[in-house]
Amino acid sequence: MEVIRVEGGHPLSGEVTVEGAKNSALKLMAATILAPGVNYLRNVPNIADVHVMGKVLKCLGAKVDVLGVHELRIDTSSVDSWETPYHLVEQMRASTAVLGPLIARFGKAIVAMPGGCNIGARKIDMHILGLQALGVEFNIDHGDIHASAPHGVTGTTVSLDFASVGATENLIMASVHAKGTTVIDNAAREPEIVDLANMLNEMGAHIKGAGSPVIEVTGVDKLSPVDHTVVGDRIEAGTFIAAMAGITGDKLTVKGFEPLHLGLVLKKYEQMGISIERGDREVVASRSGDIRPVDIQTLPFPGFPTDMQSQTMCLLSVAKGTCIITENVFESRFMFASELQRMGSNIVIKGHHAVVHGVDGLQGAEVKSPDLRGGAALVMAGLVADGVTTVSAIHHIDRGYEGFVEKLQALGAKVERVQVPDPEIVE
Ligand code: UD1
Repeated sequence: MEVIRVEGGHPLSGEVTVEGAKNSALKLMAATILAPGVNYLRNVPNIADVHVMGKVLKCLGAKVDVLGVHELRIDTSSVDSWETPYHLVEQMRASTAVLGPLIARFGKAIVAMPGGCNIGARKIDMHILGLQALGVEFNIDHGDIHASAPHGVTGTTVSLDFASVGATENLIMASVHAKGTTVIDNAAREPEIVDLANMLNEMGAHIKGAGSPVIEVTGVDKLSPVDHTVVGDRIEAGTFIAAMAGITGDKLTVKGFEPLHLGLVLKKYEQMGISIERGDREVVASRSGDIRPVDIQTLPFPGFPTDMQSQTMCLLSVAKGTCIITENVFESRFMFASELQRMGSNIVIKGHHAVVHGVDGLQGAEVKSPDLRGGAALVMAGLVADGVTTVSAIHHIDRGYEGFVEKLQALGAKVERVQVPDPEIVE
């Protein structure tokens, strides 16, 4: 098996450019189903999740060609299936993003029911309740969700219990051709939702209010293919800021994203003692003093992103003092803490609160990525730990970070991917 091996304590410096946002690219790819013809997507990250979404689209009948490393040509004129099988949904929950587009294009969809994953149950009840309000009927049969809109999709007001990113996106996409206007109340406000709405509007949709809690979608007859550039990945940018200016204290320039998309993260990091200079699509970050403990609670955007929680916990684990991290979005996202304990951290979990007592230093150890962001945060911990850290289950990291190891190497880190024998399985 392949692991990432990190040698701690080497000074880093330099600049890194982030890729297009994973969480945007996946939904934009799904949205091309809505505009039959040849669509071009640029700044698409070359990561495992994008490859899975490519397979989903191909399985529906689309032609997906990689033009350059970050450019996709997606011809959706030949899409003639509305069924997404379990072996793909099981690999990536975001495959359910095709539900809305398939309902809008064909009036029906069959999507395998997603299971749980390492960060919690991740239900889709809000997607289903919202779509039902628009006239979509559902049947769950042998693990598949069968959706059909026998009388078409009809606009109405849908109030979400929680500002779910995935439910907001599926509702927007399902209602682009609806009769009348759909109002999504308590909609998610993430920058990736704005990117999706912008692309759909470029295709000819009528969507107002994306980025605010109330989104209005007025149905149109037809959408046309587009050429669209994916928004920069704020979470990849935040990860590098946490990994360098944050934990190692070295000066770093991060380019290719909008600093406003990391608003609260940067503010909290400043409170921790990290100096942040905001520029045009870039941030210069560094730290000279100790890391100060600061309480964090994750919330939907513009709150502190759950996708930055593990990296921030890693940072706070070596702060001078104690603080509390509250996870409000995903119930099982503290699994990272037990891996970090193996490196000498002192973190006490109580329900959805983590009490983080800062320690003087971390020690290198063999650890296992619990999920995508937790995996990146373990590599980050290895950068300052004494000795060598070996991170396994790195397929999680490959899902969402393009060239993570190579980018860290270019900044001066002693980090590499190495093959090690598979551990013996004891029955
Ligand atoms: C997306 C992001 C993920 C990010 C998350 C929150 C993608 C591919 N993934 O995930 O990286 O961490 O937003 O910012 O874009 N929930 C329900 N019922 C539902 C839908 C959600 O109970 O029908 C719950 C989930 O289990 C979770 C919370 O609501 O506890 C938030 O989920 P949601 O915002 O929908 O996240 P995703 O779209 O799955």
